[in-house]
Amino acid sequence: MKYRGKRVLGLESNLTFPIVFLLCLCFFLAGLFGSIIISQDVNKSGSRHKLLEDIGYDEEDSMVHGESGDSFINSIPFQVLSWKPRAVYFPNFASDEQCRNIIERAKRKLKPSSLALREGETAESTKGVRTSSGAFLSASEDSTGSLEFVEEKIARATMLPRSHGEAGYLAFNVLRYEVDQRYVSHYDSFNPAEYGPLKSQRVASFLLYLSDVEEGGETMFPFENGSNMNQGYDYQGCIGLKVRPRRGDGLLFYSLHPNGTIDPTSLHGSCPVVKGEKWVATKWIRDKAKGSS
Ligand SMILES: *[C@@H]1O[C@H](CO)[C@@H](O)[C@H](O)[C@H]1NC(C)=O
Ligand SMILES: *[C@@H]1O[C@H](CO)[C@@H](O)[C@H](O)[C@H]1NC(C)=O
Repeated sequence: MKYRGKRVLGLESNLTFPIVFLLCLCFFLAGLFGSIIISQDVNKSGSRHKLLEDIGYDEEDSMVHGESGDSFINSIPFQVLSWKPRAVYFPNFASDEQCRNIIERAKRKLKPSSLALREGETAESTKGVRTSSGAFLSASEDSTGSLEFVEEKIARATMLPRSHGEAGYLAFNVLRYEVDQRYVSHYDSFNPAEYGPLKSQRVASFLLYLSDVEEGGETMFPFENGSNMNQGYDYQGCIGLKVRPRRGDGLLFYSLHPNGTIDPTSLHGSCPVVKGEKWVATKWIRDKAKGSS
């Protein structure tokens, strides 16, 4: 009896311990997984909320969209730099990797930049006006998709359709400026009085800075607000509104007024690079779509 009792007791306690242990373990694990799942939910909705907060809109603010409209709000931050000329800055328009991809593509095709010549001008007579090297690239030449992304984003940011961008092999003009290289002030639009009749006119230009520049290399608008226009500006001076290149940032400016005439304050150039190297991709956007007349 004694032994049996002891044995029973021993048996009971031997069983009780694992059962209690297993139960505790179950509760512990249930609690652990539960808290992980709940905290994940909280994190998800938390970051989503943060995103919307950053943009400054509630989810409910997006309009009921048509079948073809976006069902979401885009955030493309911009900074209005000037109204004369109409110039807008887009910080972080493209990623570092996209910029590097575009430079890699362009390096393979780099040639000294040329100019659209006015009547009577020759390559020799315009020497020194534009001393950079450049390459024309189309989005389809870039298998990384970086140019495709940038082209689409420019169209969305400007609401000027992709079909109005200079296209094909002219789609992007990627330029490299080394120390002392510059582009003296000029217009991107063509004055028919100087260049003859035009099929279409450049409305706006979008510059994507592909590199930082240690010193110099700013994009300048010497006639900002109409200043310096009547002082015999020599087209070389680095004055007026100056935009410092920063990798991944974009700069959009309009060459034409809303009424279609040339905006004289859209005169611009590239200050000489003092230190480092400047890489920039230019997209010209026209008033007529490609192939239309
Ligand atoms: C240009 O004009 C605007 C509007 O009048 C003014 O706010 C801005 O300070 C001017 N910029 C310069 C550089 O004069
Ligand atoms: C076009 O618009 C600009 C800027 O508002 C103005 O100065 C110019 O006189 C206009 N030209 C015509 C022909 O309407």
